[in-house]
Formats: sequence, C-alpha cells, structure tokens
Amino acid sequence: HHFVDRATPEGVLAAVREGRTHAQVPGYEALDAYRAGGGYAVLARLRASGDPEAVQAQVLASGLRGLGGAGFPSGKKWSFVRAAEGPRYLAVNGDEGEPGTFKDRYFLERQPHLMLEGMLIAAWAVDAARCYVYMRDEYPAVLEIQRREIAALERAGLVPPGYIALRRGAGAYICGEESAMLESIEGKRGLPRHRPPYVAQVGLFGRPTLVHNVETLHWVARVCREGPEVLSSVEKNGRTGLRSFSVSGRVARPGVYTLPAGATIADVIAAAGGMAAGHAFKAYQPGGPSSGLLPAALDDVPLDFDMLQPHGSFIGSAAVVVLSDRDSAKAAALNMLRFFEDESCGQCTPCRVGCEKAVKLMQAERWDRNLLEDLCQAMADASICGLGQAAPNPIRLAIRHFPDEV
Ligand code: NAI
Ligand code: SF4
Repeated sequence: HHFVDRATPEGVLAAVREGRTHAQVPGYEALDAYRAGGGYAVLARLRASGDPEAVQAQVLASGLRGLGGAGFPSGKKWSFVRAAEGPRYLAVNGDEGEPGTFKDRYFLERQPHLMLEGMLIAAWAVDAARCYVYMRDEYPAVLEIQRREIAALERAGLVPPGYIALRRGAGAYICGEESAMLESIEGKRGLPRHRPPYVAQVGLFGRPTLVHNVETLHWVARVCREGPEVLSSVEKNGRTGLRSFSVSGRVARPGVYTLPAGATIADVIAAAGGMAAGHAFKAYQPGGPSSGLLPAALDDVPLDFDMLQPHGSFIGSAAVVVLSDRDSAKAAALNMLRFFEDESCGQCTPCRVGCEKAVKLMQAERWDRNLLEDLCQAMADASICGLGQAAPNPIRLAIRHFPDEV
C-alpha cells in the first residue's frame, strides 16, 4: 500500500500530484470466483424457501458472538430486531478503530463476499429494508473493493440497485460506537446516544436496526454454508470456537492469526513466530487500550470472552499488542489515556474532563493512586458510552499488575 500523508494539505497535494491517492487494491476473491466456489448458494436457497428461525438456530448453535468486541450472542440480536415492527435496517460496523485491531481489514481485502453474503443472509432473516455498510476511510483499498463488488452484486441481480449503501467513516474513533455510527450515517455529528433504547428497537432513522461487526457477518456466511460445527467443534482449554487475533508489538511476525478461542497469549505469541529477536515477553494488551495491560505471568489464561474478567480485563476485539522488557507499562498506560483524551467526543463531562485530568496525573513521577482511583470511579460510573466507562481500565490495571512502575 502507498501511504498518503493526510496530516498536512501539502502532503495530500503531493500525493495527488504523484498519483498516490488511491491505495493499491490487492488481489482478492471477486464475485465470479466466490460464486464458482459455492458462494451465494445459501442465500439463494434461503430466499427461495428458507425459514428465518432455522437459520437463526444454526447461528445460535455455532455459539457465534459479536466480534466487534462485546461478544453479544449474534443470533439473539436477530430476535430483538425481528420482534420490532418494520421497516427495519441492517448496519455493518466496518469502522475498525480499536488501536491494534486489523482483522476486519484482513478479511475484507481477501474475501469481501463472505461479509457481504453474511450481511444479506442476516438482512433476509430480519427482513431489512436496506443495508448500510459503514467503512473506515483509512482503508481505501477496502472501500474500493466494496464499491466494485456491491456494483457487481447489483449487476448480477443479487440485490436491487441501492439496497446496499456504502458510507465512509471519517476518522473519528467514536464513530465506531454503534449509536454514534448510526448518527454519522444519518448525516449528523457522531455522538453516542443514551441506551436504552437499544438500536435493535430504535436505531437508524428511528427504526429497528441490526448492527453487526464485519467479522461477525463473515462467520454468519461460513456457519450457514459449513454448518455450526465450523465453530462449535473447535475446542481448547475447555472453550469453544475460533478467534481472529490481530497481533502486533514485539513479536517476530505480526499479523492476523485465527486460533481456537481457548488459546492463551503463549499460543498467540508462538503463532506469531515467537518474540522478536532480543526481546523478552513482559506484558500484553489483550483487546484494545480499554482492556489495559496484563503481565506476562498471566500467560495461561484462555483469551476467550469472560475469561479475563477476574483479572480486570477482557478480550474485546482481540487486538493483541505484545510488550517486552524494553517497554514501560507506565508509558503504555499513559499512551492509552492520551488516545482516549484525543478521541473523547466531549459530550459528557466525566469523560471529556476525566481523560484530560487522568493524563495530567499520570505524568507524575509517582501516581497519586487514591486521586486517580476516585477519578476512575467517577468516569466509569457517569460516562454515557463505553469510551468513557472503559477509559479508566489502563489506569486500574497498571496499578493492579505493575504497581512498582507507577
Ligand atoms: P455492549 O455490550 O453494550 O453491546 C453489544 C451489542 O449488544 C450492541 O450491539 C448492543 O446494542 C447489543 N445489546 C446489548 N444488550 C442488549 C439488549 N438488552 N437488547 C438489545 N441489544 C442489546 O457493548 P458495546 O458498547 O456496543 O461495545 C463495546 C466493545 O466494543 C468493547 O468491548 C470493545 O472491545 C469494542 N470496541 C471495538 C472496536 C473495534 O474497532 N472493533 C473499537 C472500540 C471498541
Ligand atoms: Fe463522548 Fe466520552 Fe461521553 Fe462517550 S463517554 S459520549 S466518548 S464524552
């Protein structure tokens, strides 16, 4: 890929002059190849004589949970949306903004139609009037592939023209929060809404909306084609299913690795070729900055949903960043809070002011733990959305697992 310096107008101008504004589109599986391999056969069968409840039962049996990071049982959402009166919408969250997450991009640059077929199956199951794909603008190749392949689906008569609407995100982390994403699709500033009501009842344009992450829909297509066993038959350490880890940091081969959901950080590092030469494993971010940092000693915990809770963390979207003996846990925690400070939408005081105060307090030689803990409590209790509620996690986890450093 070519990188465009979007930070300065000069950078953008230079890129335009040099013809670098379009990212190279990698080789990927286009519609014809996907159909030749059996793609869209499930959708055709369902549309001809399918039973939405039978498909939903398959998804539930697979154990598929929301892979944006929250792990909500995917099949269950379909019931909520279907129970609400139409017209209904489906919105795909492709605004993969979690620092360290790049699995959705990985899938979309290789097999874009798995997500699109999964989306159309889910849309059929909840009888959605239209689908909106909200895609991260920092993924220009993915956007180009989506444009081409949605047009191809229309030409092939698989969807009516305009049934799938592609929308570009514009670089705000908060627009990946599902209700802020819906605001953004509606053409407004991306501010999270209060919940309840859940988007399943009151979503896009006030209508019931099924929101799924890209990878979740990728697996919906595979579960419907290959059977629930594609996920439910994989077992490890007492856990079931598969997880796509985006692995970066001090490993030999950063990348996306799909491993059993019961894999530990030791398994993940091994899959990524071990530690980078000269680095000793010290700590890891299991799932984005809001999951904080865990110490290397916790290398035997299955990285599945719910398993990291006793240690104050969670797996989220499985954005694993590996730190070594050359890294500072304190500096990493501060970096995470700086990110939240930048990305807070500013709508509510505990988050807007809290992140800023936390960054100041964390710059001290020794942290004032009591004051920071008070601040964390206020932020977690009183913020409107997940950003402000989870922003204290890196602070709390650093105090808990790296007390000597802070
Ligand atoms: P959540 O647990 O509040 O909701 C998860 C999903 O379930 C939502 O779609 C929500 O509408 C639905 N839901 C929950 N309870 C419901 C109910 N009673 N009735 C109907 N629907 C219900 O979590 P949230 O705030 O949506 O997501 C937080 C996660 O997002 C974090 O754990 C983090 O890992 C992840 N995240 C991922 C990013 C990425 O780039 N992939 C970026 C930032 C955060
Ligand atoms: Fe905005 Fe932060 Fe409040 Fe979320 S918690 S609504 S990001 S100010």
